[in-house]
Amino acid sequence: MVTETAVRQALEGVMDPELHKSLIELGMVRRVRIQKNRVKISLALTTLGCPLRDQIVEDVKRAVGALEGVEGVEVELTEMSKEEKQRIGIGVLQREKGALEELNQIRRVVAVMSGKGGVGKSLVSGLLALALRREGYQVGILDADITGPSIPKMFFPNGARLGFGPLGPIPPQSKTGIKVMSINLLLEQEDMAVIWRGPLVSGAIKQFWGDVFWGMLDYLVVDLPPGTSDASLTVMQSLPMSGIVLVSSPQDLAGMVVRKAANMARQMGTPILGLIENMSYFECPDTGKRYDIFGPSHAEEMAQRMGIPFLGRLPIDPEVARLCDAGRIEDYRSDAFARIAQELVKRIPEARPSIFVESSAS
Ligand SMILES: Nc1ncnc2c1ncn2[C@@H]1O[C@H](COP(=O)(O)OP(=O)(O)O)[C@@H](O)[C@H]1O
Ligand SMILES: [Mg+2]
Repeated sequence: MVTETAVRQALEGVMDPELHKSLIELGMVRRVRIQKNRVKISLALTTLGCPLRDQIVEDVKRAVGALEGVEGVEVELTEMSKEEKQRIGIGVLQREKGALEELNQIRRVVAVMSGKGGVGKSLVSGLLALALRREGYQVGILDADITGPSIPKMFFPNGARLGFGPLGPIPPQSKTGIKVMSINLLLEQEDMAVIWRGPLVSGAIKQFWGDVFWGMLDYLVVDLPPGTSDASLTVMQSLPMSGIVLVSSPQDLAGMVVRKAANMARQMGTPILGLIENMSYFECPDTGKRYDIFGPSHAEEMAQRMGIPFLGRLPIDPEVARLCDAGRIEDYRSDAFARIAQELVKRIPEARPSIFVESSAS
């Protein structure tokens, strides 16, 4: 004979994958009905749109189905009331804006900046995240280029969608486990142009930081839009920056634009971790000879004059452009970049101690 007590006991062992507590403890199990050894369970989820819904149902069916005598398990889903959610600490978190900031533990925040567009800022952001991930770190990328987002395209060959958990939006993870947050994930069509004005842009960036469930990250790489725009200002003002990385190309002859970006960072009191020159040269695959396609490099000299570390030169590599377009940046290997990343990592300080938050809120 199957009893309700036995069923409830079995459900004690089923955990909510995100809250790490049993469904019984969370008060999610409502009615349990048993008819002729068939069990019908009504389950209240934190939200019906829960991405882990199928997994929870599956786990319930497996646990109860394993009881002696049970011939069938049916699960009926409902949603918790606001009060119930608050009781287990969820409603409260959702109501307050930026409240996830308290739950996220992000150790270091590095933004990638350039004077102008098209110099490879997004590429450097992507490669930096990748290099850190390959070292075994937990890594996220916040695409702060709201009007020209390009990160998801590099990491998700088949597109990606934002997940929604009880604690808030969850960034999708790339093949190697890099968490990505971008306005592109919220748009219907990837190529839909975003024409947003300043306040909306800075609002979105703040939300990407504080209203998204990043969890524990060793590094968050922020891909900034070109230049010294509102978005860059917002990032430096509202995020606990470890520092910024400047990217230039040999065409920034006098380094005017780079200097402007560097000045902005200085004014904001954000440390400049160094300068990378991208598209610096082309190495002929047949002969290994280097060609300075865009003229000789001045980056090292420029960095010296500005008093910032020079991190290295990146070649023009058709392979990286191809892989980025195909959403397969993670298949790329570059010795030049690996060396740059090593140089850079040594210089990234821990973020402001104020953002180390004990995870007592969960
Ligand atoms: N070193 C490189 N070799 C080949 N293509 C590159 C390189 N750096 C950037 N690209 C390509 O140039 C384009 C612009 O780069 P992107 O990173 O989007 O620039 P930004 O973010 O500064 O606007 C992209 O298509 C990218 O794949
Ligand atoms: Mg870009």
